Amino acid sequence: MRIGVLCSGGDAPGMNPCLRSIVRTACLCDVEVYGIRRGYEGLLDEDFCPGEDGTAAVGMRSIAGPSQLDGSFVMGLRSVSGLSKIGGTILRSSRSTRFQTPEGLKLATEILKWHHIEALIPIGGNGTQKGAIDLMRVWDGQIIGLPGTIDNDLYGTDFTIGFATAVDTAVEAVDKLRDTAGSHELMFFVEVMGRHCGDIALSTAIASGAEIACIPEAETPPDQIVKRLKKIKEAGKTSVMAIVAEGDEHGGAYAVQKLLKEAGNPFESRAVVLGHVLRGGSPVAADRILASELGNFAVSAIIQGESGKMAGKIKNELVLTPLEECVSKHRTVDTDQLRLLQIVAS
Ligand code: F6P
Repeated sequence: MRIGVLCSGGDAPGMNPCLRSIVRTACLCDVEVYGIRRGYEGLLDEDFCPGEDGTAAVGMRSIAGPSQLDGSFVMGLRSVSGLSKIGGTILRSSRSTRFQTPEGLKLATEILKWHHIEALIPIGGNGTQKGAIDLMRVWDGQIIGLPGTIDNDLYGTDFTIGFATAVDTAVEAVDKLRDTAGSHELMFFVEVMGRHCGDIALSTAIASGAEIACIPEAETPPDQIVKRLKKIKEAGKTSVMAIVAEGDEHGGAYAVQKLLKEAGNPFESRAVVLGHVLRGGSPVAADRILASELGNFAVSAIIQGESGKMAGKIKNELVLTPLEECVSKHRTVDTDQLRLLQIVAS
């Protein structure tokens, strides 16, 4: 059996350990894995990753013409050595509008058939799994998706691959900002990624001891925040941290900073956008373990004939959830964590 693996959408720390687990599991099960570079866009370019010995021509159609994949492209045990600690993805990633067209999907199907790839493991977020659903409608191969995104916004898993590392990176940055906030008696508005999900912001706020978290899932009226800030100042606090999710209803850190200043924020403030810093770094152990478990689980699921599902981990159990559910249902914000933040940040 030939399995194709690709990473699509925003990269996430943990994608490399996930690929390593997929390849190592496949090698033990006598299954061939072919790395597809640059996500769905690379699939349309037949941009396959060189195999074990690294001599294979890269970019089949662009270099070798329509010759079929041969053994020199198989990803062997050694081709994923040392990947556990490497951030990003050696397969590279992309966002592909071409793939979202009927012509793109038709070409993808032809390419997968031409190279006798019978199963696909797309590693990525919401957009990636939606692309997998579109492909499923025109291609008769097996698809098992893996939740590779820092956003933690996919139904069907408690945590996505990359989320834990992004939170660790954000907390490290906020801890550093706390020093200068203390020295200059400042309030900082720190914006974190997460698209429309506030999990990175909420977890970062709790872990860093921030006083405020602004997330899309919970209304935070400016006058209520200012009232709270005045109480904090009266209580003698001289510096404050507010973690703002980029998808917050009021906009990002700069927008919230402006809004609160106009509402009478008693603190002098600065704004910082952590942005793509949160996508980098060596994956933390939790992400390496989750990535390895899900990579292994995805290969086993394919061998057992599963398809059209995403592998995830819910309440410590490895599960498969139909892709349509993963992209259409929404995970609810952890209200216990919201309450906890109010208590520990008081
Ligand atoms: O989906 C991952 C993510 O990092 C989001 O948190 C963020 O909003 C988006 O990607 C940024 O996209 P790009 O890397 O294309 O700017």
